[in-house]
Amino acid sequence: MQGHILVGITGGIAAYKTPSLLRLFVKAGYEVRTIATEHALQFVTPLTIETLTNNKLHTDLFAAVAERHTEHISLAQWADVMVVAPATANCIGKLNAGIADDMLTTTLLALNKPLFLAPAMNENMYTHFSTQKNLQQLQANGVHVIEPTEGFLACQSEGKGRMAEPETIFQQIDNFLHPKEGMGIKAVITAGPTYEPIDSVRFIGNHSSGKMGYCLAEVLARKGVEVELVSGPSHLSCNHPNIRLHKVETAAEMFEATAALAPTADIAIMAAAVADYRPAHIADHKIKKSEQHLQIDLEPTQDILKTLCAQKKEGQFFVGFALETDHEEENARHKLESKKADMIVLNSLQDAGAGFNTPTNKVSILRPNSEILHLPLLSKEETAERIVDTIFETINKKR
Ligand code: PMT
Repeated sequence: MQGHILVGITGGIAAYKTPSLLRLFVKAGYEVRTIATEHALQFVTPLTIETLTNNKLHTDLFAAVAERHTEHISLAQWADVMVVAPATANCIGKLNAGIADDMLTTTLLALNKPLFLAPAMNENMYTHFSTQKNLQQLQANGVHVIEPTEGFLACQSEGKGRMAEPETIFQQIDNFLHPKEGMGIKAVITAGPTYEPIDSVRFIGNHSSGKMGYCLAEVLARKGVEVELVSGPSHLSCNHPNIRLHKVETAAEMFEATAALAPTADIAIMAAAVADYRPAHIADHKIKKSEQHLQIDLEPTQDILKTLCAQKKEGQFFVGFALETDHEEENARHKLESKKADMIVLNSLQDAGAGFNTPTNKVSILRPNSEILHLPLLSKEETAERIVDTIFETINKKR
């Protein structure tokens, strides 16, 4: 059992997202108990909440007498952490003023455990001096506030006040209860192919799906690492709150985005299949078909890995990939040395199930002054876990 989470639900439209939060906690092995205000029950049903948590939903301070006389005290004692999601301006105000007039606010007052609030309201209500003052005072007293985000609000306006996504709330609390090895570490990862335009409709691309890079991002994010994922065109998506996705198309765009992020990264992993050449001139119209041969003049792109490794600072750890078709180890060793990387992950198109566009990969890991490490054919998720473990082991040894 991961721990005991007490979830308070107040009456805001964002309460429709609370069942997803409950599900995340339950799925991760937490035991979850819930308290809803009367207003919250206008937005979510007890049946949904009780089915998801497999526990009774507490709503009425006095109905609780039938079971236990001081349920608000025993729930507060039972919890390892309490979160109110959504937390309305009304609930935040009552908590800061010490008002306890229902089951939720009474329990909040009886609580001496860590408390998280996920505010959700209209932007004017959120930025109101009274709400801001309440939040500041609560934070000064050790309450954790999970910032709302900006976006389209239920009142049909745009602004700050959307409750943080369930994944973000879950992650913050899970990280708080179970600090992860990668917390405080920043990584930048490149993934996917690049598309180099020839004219307004055609491009030079490659078969990379992005999967290897996205799996690495996911594994690092689960370890608590803050990941900047710079991705070429890929149909994949990621919704881990620790991953920020930067979409690019060309090698030049990938270089620009990665170079801007690398100086503050502790780890960089270049898993993208970046074009080595691009058309020197892009036709501004669709090139017409003719019976003549067509020659396209190609010029080299900038090598992202090599450029960034040359600017690498003390303590940074930069990893490249090598996709080879022949003389694999020799070529990969040459890339490790010529690009001055800390590690090269070699995958060969000679190995069935390795490389591009497959759910699996078979890689070997090369590091300076170390024996080559051969991994078996594994799913890309498992391959990413083994690569990340090796990166952490190597960094820890260096310290
Ligand atoms: O995306 P998937 O379908 O899951 O496939 C994964 C993969 C096969 C693309 C991946 O595992 C992989 O091998 N990526 C690197 C592919 C590649 O371009 O290898 P390379 O040997 O040409 O390049 C060597 C290294 O230099 C790579 O880290 C590459 O990202 C980097 N590079 C290359 C050219 C360039 N202009 N800039 C670079 O940074």
